[in-house]
Amino acid sequence: MFVRNAWYVAALDAELTDQLLPVKLLNERVVLYRQSNGEAVALEDACAHRKLPLSMGSIQGDHVMCGYHGLRYDRSGTCVHMPCADRIPKNARVRSYPVVSRYGLLWIWMGPAELADESQIFAVEHWGDPSWGVTRGDAMTVNCHYLYMTDNLLDPSHVAWVHVSTFGNAACESTPIDVHATDQGVIASRWMRDVEPAPLYVPFLGFKGNCDRLQHYEVRYPSHALIKAILVPAGAGGAQASQHAAAFVMDSYNFLTPIDAKHTRYFWFQMRNILPNDEGVSALMATGVRSAFEEDRVVLNAVQQGFDESQTPSIDIATDSASLRFRRRVQSLIAKENEPG
Ligand code: FES
Ligand SMILES: [Fe+2]
Repeated sequence: MFVRNAWYVAALDAELTDQLLPVKLLNERVVLYRQSNGEAVALEDACAHRKLPLSMGSIQGDHVMCGYHGLRYDRSGTCVHMPCADRIPKNARVRSYPVVSRYGLLWIWMGPAELADESQIFAVEHWGDPSWGVTRGDAMTVNCHYLYMTDNLLDPSHVAWVHVSTFGNAACESTPIDVHATDQGVIASRWMRDVEPAPLYVPFLGFKGNCDRLQHYEVRYPSHALIKAILVPAGAGGAQASQHAAAFVMDSYNFLTPIDAKHTRYFWFQMRNILPNDEGVSALMATGVRSAFEEDRVVLNAVQQGFDESQTPSIDIATDSASLRFRRRVQSLIAKENEPG
């Protein structure tokens, strides 16, 4: 079961060209296409007649045409053309989903359409600020349940073992983590003081020597994360650190879309407070982040397999407290959505 009343990322904006694009979210098959004005449309990917995926059909102007008997549907999912019929029955329709383009991503509302509220899409603090650089979005599929990924995104400690070539080093092994919950999610964070910068950050720093480093790992319900990193010269860490002249700040936005119980599509982009127009910096950051997330993918695929094949119970440890809080709240949100009436 998944939280339905939420905006999820269905695709990168750039993935939806002039072709039908089938995607699967929350165990549902959806087809995306663009109208002639460029606006994205999302429909149930199953014709009302014989359930052929509409993604096997074609785009006809602003409509999608089924590839079996030619029924055509508009953006509301209403059948507007039915060959060989005098009239179109009222139930000749497929479900349509609200879609919004924002941050180079296509967001889809999976709950009842009347509850869709664009203002609930994850707020990106510095979007549009010319003094901040953006590393354009990327995506991958991870073969695990999305809650294994929220576990990972609420666990700053794992960088010491999983990301030794990117986000982590020995300095990350033992600094305690603070955990607190907000109305929107859970935050696990810590300042590491006077430590060697982890390898991924080194090329971006405007200072030499040790740093104070913030790891702010925040996941909001149901599956959207802000992973903020601040690195400043050793001694300059703390509440005002991001104002320091040499501060390096990277906000990593990470959006998880459950495909089904064992697969998740992972979307992300990064924002930084340095060299906003430097394409070389963007490319280096994109490559570094992608390789770090590949390190996560290897572990997460194996974790899913480990649970699938395990004959013994698993344990929880101290660094799981944020993810366990998050999981409890997700379960209560799902239970609430499924209350009768
Ligand atoms: S299955 Fe789509 S028109 Fe018949
Ligand atoms: Fe990771």
